[in-house]
Amino acid sequence: MIEVNNLHRTYRRNVHALKGVTFTVNAGQRFGIVGESGSGKSTLVRLLAALDRPTGGLIRFRGTRIDTLPERKLKFLRNDLQIVFQDPMGSLDPRMRVKDIICEPLDRDYDRSERLRELLDAVGLPQNAATRYPHQFSGGQRQRISIARALAPYPKVLVADEPVSALDVSVRAQILNLLDELVERYDLTLVFVSHDLAVVRRVCDTVAVMRRGQIVEIGDVEQIYRYPNHPYTRELIAAVPTLQGALARFQGGS
Ligand SMILES: Nc1ncnc2c1ncn2[C@@H]1O[C@H](COP(=O)(O)OP(=O)(O)OP(=O)(O)O)[C@@H](O)[C@H]1O
Ligand SMILES: [Mg+2]
Repeated sequence: MIEVNNLHRTYRRNVHALKGVTFTVNAGQRFGIVGESGSGKSTLVRLLAALDRPTGGLIRFRGTRIDTLPERKLKFLRNDLQIVFQDPMGSLDPRMRVKDIICEPLDRDYDRSERLRELLDAVGLPQNAATRYPHQFSGGQRQRISIARALAPYPKVLVADEPVSALDVSVRAQILNLLDELVERYDLTLVFVSHDLAVVRRVCDTVAVMRRGQIVEIGDVEQIYRYPNHPYTRELIAAVPTLQGALARFQGGS
């Protein structure tokens, strides 16, 4: 589905955000990217979505090189790959009603009302959410709106960049469960970014551990979580035990 080879992204003033990143993501895979702040995760996401261009290396999406394609030829990618961002308030237009936000990626001639009903249902929002505005919802509900919008054009790949980091701990598990269920139901390929390996473990089968623009460890998430090879991975595991406890409590109580 995605092939990334020796990817580099250098910003002005010699900021080397990515320094030779290589990996592949297969159809149906749930690929996690974990690493501390500034390790290059969002830079990588922007390149995968062709919102930015690499300074070296290549990216193929279903066999087509996207890093060199002109914008007018990227329409397929704008449908096939959808992103959910960390901050739902910042990524939703406050002046638009939920129905217009969710249906924005859809063609005009499409039966939008039917699709809207399906999507609201899929993400667990009431049908009367359609005519309301983003500020009338909680953080968790707003993230459900973002997810519905991402799913609207029937994407093949869902990219989530820290989708639960801005949410209350109690709500995180619900959104993670929802993502898990939707990926399964719609046969999606998932690229999931987090600074928290316990969160990645909850939804991914594979993880790439990033540090300072490079992948220091990559493989089966359970294997890496239990037997981390790189000292940095051990640090990451030691640093964030909190959500795991919260998840265990949530799952035990539901
Ligand atoms: N547009 C930009 N211009 C210049 N430098 C940038 C730009 N975007 C990111 N950087 C730098 O590139 C590096 C990687 O940033 P990036 O946002 O990819 O990290 P991240 O892993 O997503 O971090 P976080 O966990 O805080 O979201 C950082 O040093 C950052 O300051
Ligand atoms: Mg980031």
